[in-house]
Amino acid sequence: MNKQQHSNIAIIGMGVMGKSLALNLLDHGFRVSGFDTSEKRLNIARETASQQNKSDFHACSDIKSLLNSLVTPRVIALSIPAGNAVDSVIEQLLSEGLSSEDIVIDTGNSLWTDSISRSDLYAGRLNIFSTAVSGGEEGARFGPSLMASGDPDVWKYVEPMWLAISAKINPDGKDLPSLETGEPCAAYIGPSGSGHYVKMVHNGIEYADMQLICEAFQILKDIAGLSSNEIGKVFEQWNSGVLNSYLMEISADILQQIDPVTGAPLVDVIQDVAGQKGTGLWTALNSLETASAAPTIVQAVISRAISSQKALRMQLSDSYQIDRKPIDSSKKDVLINQLHDALYSSKICAYAQGFALMAETAKQQNWSLNFSNIAKIWRGGCIIRAAFLQTIADTFEKTPDLKHLLLAPFFQKEITSRLNHWRQLSAETCLQGVAAPAILSSLSYFDSMIAEQCPANLLQAQRDYFGAHTYRRKDQPQDQSFHINWSNHPRDQEKV
Ligand code: 6PG
Repeated sequence: MNKQQHSNIAIIGMGVMGKSLALNLLDHGFRVSGFDTSEKRLNIARETASQQNKSDFHACSDIKSLLNSLVTPRVIALSIPAGNAVDSVIEQLLSEGLSSEDIVIDTGNSLWTDSISRSDLYAGRLNIFSTAVSGGEEGARFGPSLMASGDPDVWKYVEPMWLAISAKINPDGKDLPSLETGEPCAAYIGPSGSGHYVKMVHNGIEYADMQLICEAFQILKDIAGLSSNEIGKVFEQWNSGVLNSYLMEISADILQQIDPVTGAPLVDVIQDVAGQKGTGLWTALNSLETASAAPTIVQAVISRAISSQKALRMQLSDSYQIDRKPIDSSKKDVLINQLHDALYSSKICAYAQGFALMAETAKQQNWSLNFSNIAKIWRGGCIIRAAFLQTIADTFEKTPDLKHLLLAPFFQKEITSRLNHWRQLSAETCLQGVAAPAILSSLSYFDSMIAEQCPANLLQAQRDYFGAHTYRRKDQPQDQSFHINWSNHPRDQEKV
C-alpha cells in the first residue's frame, strides 16, 4: 500500500455501529480500515462496502496490519462494548506498537468516569479521546449526533471527519440530513469524560421522554378507550406541533404497525418488560449523588425496573380489582387535549432536570459546558431530537448562565398556560388507577421547585429531635446552628 492509499482512520469493531460509521466516513471521502475479532462481522462489512462501491475500505485481519494501514498520527476509533473490552483493546494496540502520538477514540457508551480514569492511565503512552455517538444504526450510517471530549489538540485531527459525517440541521432547527451545508450536529464538549457525560444525560432524558410517551399511550388506551391504531393517529397529530420529536414520530409509526404473524397491532403482542443497558441508571445515580434532582429520569429507570417484575405484577393484579370507568366518548377530546399539555409540560421538566444536572456536574468537575451548543447538536441525529431543542438552544444562547430552564420566560409561559390541563389529567389518572409515574413525578417536581416554603422545616426539627442534628433559624444568620434540648423541661434552645 503506498502512502496515498493509507487510511485516514481505523475502526475496531465492525458491529452495527462500527460498520455504519465506517460506511458514513467512506461516503464522505475518507479512507477507512476496519477490524473485528469476528471474521463474520468483518466479512459482512467488507461485502457491504464493496456492494456500495466503496473501494477505500480496507478490511484488516489483525491489529498489526490495521496499524500499518494508517497515516500518522494514527487515528483508531473503538466501536466496542463499554467496560473492560475497551481497556483490553487499548493494551493490545499498545503492545502492537501504538505510539504516544497516536489517537484512540472511544465511541462506545462508556461510563464518563471511566473515560477520565483512562486519560490518566494512558497519559504519555497514547492520546485517548472520546466521542459519544447518538442516533443508533441509522444515525451512525447517515448522520449521528457526536459529543467529543479530551485533549483539544486531538480534536483538530478529528474535527473534519466528525463534522463531515454528523447529522446536519438547518439553522432554524429543521432536520435536513441531506443538506450538507447545514449546521453539523457534532461538537467538542470539553475535557476528558465530558462528552460521555453529556451523552449519558442525553440517554437519561431519552429514558424520561420514552416513559412519558408510553404513559400517554396507556392513558389513551385505559381511560379514553382508544385502540393502538387510534393512539398512533393522535401521536401523529401531536408530532406536527410542540411535541414534534423523533420519539413521537416513531411511536406514532409503531402504534400503527400490524403484527405480521397474528394481524393484531404489533404493540399488543410485545411483552411489557423493558430492557436497559445502564446509561439511564447512571444518570439517575448522578442525580442522587450530586443532589441535583432529576426525578422524572429516576422514575423512568424505576418504571423499567417495575416492568421487569412481570410475574409479581400479574399476581398483585389478581389481588386488587381496580374499578375503572372509561370516560364518556363526548369527553375524549377534552382528555386528549389535557394529556397533550401534561405531556408537553412533563417533557419540559424532564429536559430542565437534565440541563440542571449537567450544570451541577460541570460545576463539580470544573468543566465549562456550552448548553446552547449541546442543545444544538441534539437537534439532529440523536434519539431525543425534538423541535423544542431549538428553543432550548436559543434560550441558553441568550442567557448562558440561566440557572434553570423553568426560569426562562418562554418555558414559564408554556407551562403556566397548560398547568390546569396538567393537573386535571394527573388527577384523572389517580382517580382511575392508571399508573402515570413520570407525568406525576414531573408535576410534583414542578410544584416542589416553585414552592417558596417546603416542609423541610419540620424535617429538620425531626432530625434535631432524634439525632441532635441541629437546625438553622429564619431569623438568624444562616451559618449558625441551633438545637433544642428535647428531653429538658422546659425545652431550651442552645446555639451549637
Ligand atoms: C442513542 C441511544 C443508544 C442506545 C441506548 C439504549 O443515543 O443512540 O441512546 O445509546 O439505544 O443505549 O439504551 P437502553 O438499552 O438502556 O434503553
